[in-house]
Amino acid sequence: MRAKVNGINIAYDDVGTGLPIVFLHAFPLNRTMWAPQEVALSKRFRVISIDLRGHGESDAPFWRYSLEQYALDVKEVLVQLGIAKAVFVGLSMGGYLEFALYRRYPDLILGFVFADTRAEADKPEQIQWRFSLAQRTAAIGPAAVITEMLPKLLAPQTYERNADLVERVRSIQATAPVPGIIGDLMAMAERPDSTDLLPSITIPTLVIVGRDDVLTAPADAERIARGIPGAKLVIIPDAGHLSNMEQPDLFNRAVGEFAAALSKTTP
Ligand code: MLT
Repeated sequence: MRAKVNGINIAYDDVGTGLPIVFLHAFPLNRTMWAPQEVALSKRFRVISIDLRGHGESDAPFWRYSLEQYALDVKEVLVQLGIAKAVFVGLSMGGYLEFALYRRYPDLILGFVFADTRAEADKPEQIQWRFSLAQRTAAIGPAAVITEMLPKLLAPQTYERNADLVERVRSIQATAPVPGIIGDLMAMAERPDSTDLLPSITIPTLVIVGRDDVLTAPADAERIARGIPGAKLVIIPDAGHLSNMEQPDLFNRAVGEFAAALSKTTP
């Protein structure tokens, strides 16, 4: 499905009924990374997964991208779907986007799931790395990102045992539009630090991380969980950065239990 949002087309899936759960993808993937969640959780909830601008089947204009712009786009999609409040699940860059949503639309959020992400802003050397990767992407396309990122996205045992998943992730990256890849890199480099926000978050929160995540380590997740009052932490074994794809059953169980508890308290 597509919505005309802020002058461009944004693609999304909207499956199932019940409490809305909105899934926000990682860099530089797209909504198809949430396929295992869509299948399982749409039996009990309304599952919405969105291709951020520059990704998947959404338009990919050459323009300045920012996490705030992604937040404006997500909000507008939800307005068009008649959704006033939802649970948000963001993985990695999707988690950075959740902080942007919280800054601008705290009333939109019934519950947060922060998966394989961090609250801190980039350090100067990470910003340099992003600019260098953006330039390599401009020169040779998504292959630059595949070379750099694919070896770090999954746990070592996933590479050994799950060639299909490795290929699926590689092919999602291979089709990522260059303006979206570069746009994400600039947006992430410029994002503000969100550490100071954590104690103010009174929204029910679940934090999930793959035990073998080398991009956003369990220590990053622990800092989010410690910072947000009452947040619960789930560490998923045998999973790296893309914990939702590597261990979908464990990931779905954690999100499903969290959302079911929220359904009971939501009128
Ligand atoms: C992601 O998976 O979204 C990225 O690894 C996040 C990042 O580069 O900070």
